[in-house]
This record gives sequence, structure tokens and C-alpha cells, in this order.
Amino acid sequence: MFEVDQLVWYNGKIVPREQADPSVASYSLHLGIGVFDGIRAFWNGDRYYIHALDAHIERLRRNATTLEMEVPYSTEELKVGVWELLGKIPQADYYLRPLVYRSQPQIFIKDRNQMAVDVVVLAAIAPRNQVVKPLRCHISPIERVSHRAMPISAKICGTYVNSYLVRLAAEASGVDEGIMLDRSGKIAEAAAANLFFIQGETVVTPALTPDIFPGITRATLIEVAPSLGIEVIERDIYPQELGRFEAVFSCGTLSEIKPVVQIDEYQYNSLDNGVFRKFLDKYREIMQRF
Ligand SMILES: Cc1ncc(COP(=O)(O)O)c(C=O)c1O
Repeated sequence: MFEVDQLVWYNGKIVPREQADPSVASYSLHLGIGVFDGIRAFWNGDRYYIHALDAHIERLRRNATTLEMEVPYSTEELKVGVWELLGKIPQADYYLRPLVYRSQPQIFIKDRNQMAVDVVVLAAIAPRNQVVKPLRCHISPIERVSHRAMPISAKICGTYVNSYLVRLAAEASGVDEGIMLDRSGKIAEAAAANLFFIQGETVVTPALTPDIFPGITRATLIEVAPSLGIEVIERDIYPQELGRFEAVFSCGTLSEIKPVVQIDEYQYNSLDNGVFRKFLDKYREIMQRF
């Protein structure tokens, strides 16, 4: 699982992965200056379903501009690249990772515009979650990096040191996941997933401030909620409210939807919660599409 395939789409061609390796002197490798995205391709019997491919690719291209990197391929060209890669590798459920970076050896910037922008799409086998694995969480001692320091609504490689440290802290505390607060103490999100909280029939999720990553899974769940008879309220949520919720879940492209059964001293019966099950069933139905 998560083994990266030997073939990649790199600057317009399917090539062996090594051809896309950045130089050890690459500026992107040293400083984390690059952007990526995470996409799932589910093999549904005789073809793939890719959820919101346009939205993922457009997000990648938009995010690259926050680092003044213009992706030299259109959304259409990148989509064709994704399908081309899937056509060349064994049929399976994949996590696809497009990455925009500068591979050439150049430690110091002389002229950014002279440095080529590279694009690679990697594919790693990632079977969908057949079993719903509940998460035990804590409020992380690591704060969400402020949008005043980095544009965190973009998936910038270097920003993920923040998520990495959240995971390390969770591991050290013996829980599965950390929940980050923003610098004003509001609940932001998990290391790489957005959060939803359930109280009776009411569902709340942290409002999209610039300190929260605007997840595509989050947007999908908000979009389908009315068809499930559920209203989702986007608002500020504080840790002081955690005792009032009956259920909590996280969502993200890679992690899918996961029930949270504990946040510090609070316990939740999320797995059996009717509202959570409705979201889970709907999510699974969508990902089974062709
Ligand atoms: C910090 C963070 N929050 C939330 C998400 C969920 O976003 P999406 O649903 O687009 O995968 C991700 C994953 O990309 C993430 O890295």
C-alpha cells in the first residue's frame, strides 16, 4: 500500500519515475517550494471514478501562482495526463499526487522567471477504506500555522511540516490524530482533513477562514447535505464546545470519512450516529460511480 508506481506523468510524457527526480541541489527540495494536490482514482469494476478532477487540477494550478510558479499545462492537458497515466499502470484504487516544483539545481534564486517549472503526477496504490476506522484525537499542542505567515489555503509543500509535527505530537501522546487550533483558539482542522460536529440533527463545521484549508471533500459533503435532509452550518467553533457534541467526523480525499470517537477527555459515539451514517453512505455511493 502507498507504494509509488514506477511510471509517472512528467512534463507531458509517461516516463520512469527517476526521470522526474529533482537535483539534490534543487531549490524546491531544500525550501519546500512547490505545491501538490491529492486525488483519488477508484477502480469501479471496469473503469475509474475520479471525484472532482477539474476542481483538484484547477486548485493545483491556482495554488502554484501563490509561489509565482505558472503551471505550463492547461487543466485539460493535465487531465489527459492523469488518464494517460492510469491507462499505463495496473488497475487498482490509486492516490494520485500531482506536484509542481522546480527540479533544476539552483540553490539561490537569481531570476525566478528563468527557472523551469516542472509538473509530475505520481500514483500510489491506496485501497478505499472498507472498514470504518474510528479516530482517537487530541487538541494538538501544535497550532495551525497562521495565514499571515503562509497562504495555507494553498497546498504548499513546506506548509506540510505543520501537519507532520501535528502527527508526531499525536503519536507521542498515543492518539491517532491531532486537531489544530488557529492562533485565536478556534478549531481549525486535523493534520490533513476537515472536521464536522453533530449535535442532534444539527451539523456544524468550522467556517472557511483563511486559516483553514478549503477541502474538496468538505465542499462535497456540504453540497449533498440538503439531499440527505441535513443542514450544515459553517461557523466558528471553540474547544469549550466539545462536550456538547454527540458525534464528530473528519473528511479528506486520502483519509475519506472517519468517525472521531475521542477528543481528549470527550467521548463520542460517532460510528453509530445516524447523521454520520447518512454522510458515510452518501460518500460511498458517490465514490462507487463510474
Ligand atoms: C490541511 C488539510 N485540510 C483538509 C484537507 C482535505 O482536503 P480535500 O478534501 O480536498 O482532500 C487536506 C487534504 O488535502 C489538508 O491537507
